Amino acid sequence: MADEQIPSRNPVNLADYRAPAYQVEHVALDFELAPEATIVKARLQLRRNAPGPLKLDGRKLELLSVSLNGEPLGDNRYTLDEDSLTIQDVPDQAVLETSVRINPAANSELSGLYTSGSGLFTQCEPEGFRKVTFFPDRPDVMARYRVRMRADAAKFPILLSNGNKLSSGVENGIAHAEWEDPHPKPSYLFALVAADLVSLKDEFTTRSGRKVDLGIWVERGDEARCAHAMGALKRSMKWDEDIFGLEYDLDIFNIAAVSDFNAGAMENKGLNIFNTAYVLADANSATDMDFQNVERVIAHEYFHNWTGDRVTCRDWFQLSLKEGLTVFRDQEYMSDQFSAAVKRIADVRLLRATQFRDDAGPLAHPVRPASYLEINNFYTTTIYEKGAEVVRMYRTIIGREAFRRGMEAYIAKNDNAAATVEDFWAAMQSITDIDLKQFMLWYEQAGTPEITFDESWDDAAQTFTLTLRQRTAPTPGQPEKQPLLIPVAIGLLNQTGEEIHAETLLLRETEQSFTFKLPQKPGAVSLFRHFSAPVKLKGQSRARLAFLAAHDSDLFNRWDALQQYASAVLLDSVATHQIGQPFTLDEGLKDAIAATLRDATRDPAFAAEALILPMESLLADDMTVVDPDAIHLVREAARKALGQALSAEFHAVYEQFANAAPDDVSGPAMGARALRNAALSYLTAAEGPAFAAAQFTAAGNMTEKLAALTNLVDEPGPARESALHAFYTEWEHNRLVLDKWFSVQARSNASDTLTRVQALASHAAMDLRNPNRVRALIGAFTANPWKFHDKSGAGYKLLADFVLRLDETNPQIAARFVTALGLWRRFDTKRQGLMKAELERILAREQLSRNTYELASKALA
Ligand code: PHE
Ligand code: ZN
Repeated sequence: MADEQIPSRNPVNLADYRAPAYQVEHVALDFELAPEATIVKARLQLRRNAPGPLKLDGRKLELLSVSLNGEPLGDNRYTLDEDSLTIQDVPDQAVLETSVRINPAANSELSGLYTSGSGLFTQCEPEGFRKVTFFPDRPDVMARYRVRMRADAAKFPILLSNGNKLSSGVENGIAHAEWEDPHPKPSYLFALVAADLVSLKDEFTTRSGRKVDLGIWVERGDEARCAHAMGALKRSMKWDEDIFGLEYDLDIFNIAAVSDFNAGAMENKGLNIFNTAYVLADANSATDMDFQNVERVIAHEYFHNWTGDRVTCRDWFQLSLKEGLTVFRDQEYMSDQFSAAVKRIADVRLLRATQFRDDAGPLAHPVRPASYLEINNFYTTTIYEKGAEVVRMYRTIIGREAFRRGMEAYIAKNDNAAATVEDFWAAMQSITDIDLKQFMLWYEQAGTPEITFDESWDDAAQTFTLTLRQRTAPTPGQPEKQPLLIPVAIGLLNQTGEEIHAETLLLRETEQSFTFKLPQKPGAVSLFRHFSAPVKLKGQSRARLAFLAAHDSDLFNRWDALQQYASAVLLDSVATHQIGQPFTLDEGLKDAIAATLRDATRDPAFAAEALILPMESLLADDMTVVDPDAIHLVREAARKALGQALSAEFHAVYEQFANAAPDDVSGPAMGARALRNAALSYLTAAEGPAFAAAQFTAAGNMTEKLAALTNLVDEPGPARESALHAFYTEWEHNRLVLDKWFSVQARSNASDTLTRVQALASHAAMDLRNPNRVRALIGAFTANPWKFHDKSGAGYKLLADFVLRLDETNPQIAARFVTALGLWRRFDTKRQGLMKAELERILAREQLSRNTYELASKALA
């Protein structure tokens, strides 16, 4: 295949960063909106900033006219190619006017201006604005925007954009509106909505007395499901004032919900655009998890107003500067709303299951990558979740008070500017005496450090010495690793588990010893409390883990010790199974689960977390050659054996926590349901589907209903069929709930999952243009660690077929799914061959998108 036929495969390198030749001081946009042909006129006020020609990005734009300082330019005055419009000899101050035609209805990539349902919506991060108009589409070009829109009033009565509304009305059946955003912003934060929407309205008064009109815009009929999102928005606004002193800075804050959306939500200045999945929630149709996700994402996007919008990124290599920081902020917000320990547990569970896994594979990359082919491939758990851990480590190292001052310094210094991770680092260094130079390695070095340790007690000197060692395995492009600055929060416990000393150590060397003078020999050391660094701690004995699981005063580590203990014994059972021996239940695991059930009333949400056995994917990560069948059989056998051995205890818990009101979404009510559903899973494993069937019928809300259904779909038969049928009939017209119907089947462990997923792929309700639906089926299926890795290879083939189909319409979504095949090296040679063959089949496709090409080729390398 000739190179010119395919999208550019030249990497973009951080080292090549150059300041833009021109800044745009002001931009006036004029939209004549219609689904098939929208006319966009842009007037850019330009000011020279660095040497070079004026280069404007632009893709899939039909150029109608271009003029400079009022003078029309003939096509001999500019060069136009697939991606850009370049003009030489532009004066240092100039006004450029362009006019283009675009086709939103044909835009299936869902980036730029596109249609969804009967409305028009934009998504511009990271490089969608260039599909709206010619512009230096890079985050270090910050301009003030004024936006005019006109559209058919019957179809598009609501016209929204960023900032404050100057005017709106209807004349001769044409709706018009004009908006102005007083804050300079990069083009990726531009947004426009033209649709027939209704709003839930409210208001918030900031602490300095600014009254802000709040609006959540949704399709008619969905207003009643916006109350939770609105509450979350107001709580977030208040929280950012209380915790970080950050106030909202416009008179309007709008959120518009859209059904077809590539990501979760987008922080456009003053006009957040949300995937409906993160706005709409009521107890009838949304689970407790959905309620929490709505709360978290509303908070996340709102917090971006300061960490992302007011202070933005110089270039996309700095993406974690806004994303890692904003995830950290939403994590802190959520832990203030609910239980901090349970939130930490959930976050670390996710980090390990996704980021640790990526960091150990061919797609590993640093928190600040040095190079990319396609930036859309870098919205990863490394940028987001590991990035949040990096921010958290600053706080752990320098302390909460200093961190808060560091944040103030960061915002004050970089307000209305495009910053780098060095700017964040410098702000933190400026308020502490601790030398943070070495800390920058966390941004530059990929991979998860492994920590080992030794302990010794000197009876004569009454000193305890802890020796810590760190090592990070090589990752692609980084064969040698340097030691990192790692905060190690420790607790020294006596023989009965009481804490005798607690401190945060700073590990800087490859190997380093710390000595403590103590009144007595410690009974145990609790290391990396509250997960003080994103590392893998190795070499804790089972006796130590059992002790910590029972006694540690750090709740996170108590949970973690039980997880590690359970992993160790389950992996033993996997080995036993592989040599043909029967499963036997470890007494220590049984005792620990029994103790958890005994203590459940103290903190039901915590108990629910502690009852969940380590995920199959996590067990897989600890095997040299992954055996998905053995892992699955063993984990199921353990669940069943525990359910039988502790039957009375599980029954008791299931009965005892039945009282939460169905529409109560407070922490305690959610905790009670989570615990009850954890018990249900053991009871189903031990006693069959009767309980799940009863819960399915009696369920008073979606949390109970879906948990019941999840248990029922594992067993083929009439109970499963009638539940799935009833669920479908009830929810056929609610897209978000129907997504659950798809994913619950894709996650099922039933013998026929593969054929069912194949059938669902051509179900009438399958919609390739809708990312939520695709994720509900294919995303859920790739997360099914047993069925996806079916030794026939049929799961891999199904995935690759989807990737190839999706690549033609929505490469961003297509490419994401390729990562599931990236783990091939971890499997037996037969599965390796099958996975590689699918990657090769994907790469053989002519006209493969750059997105999919990058991930598939890196996955194979
Ligand atoms: N910036 C969005 C966030 O809040 C995510 C996003 C990225 C949305 C790209 C759309 C496209 O994390
Ligand atoms: Zn974000």
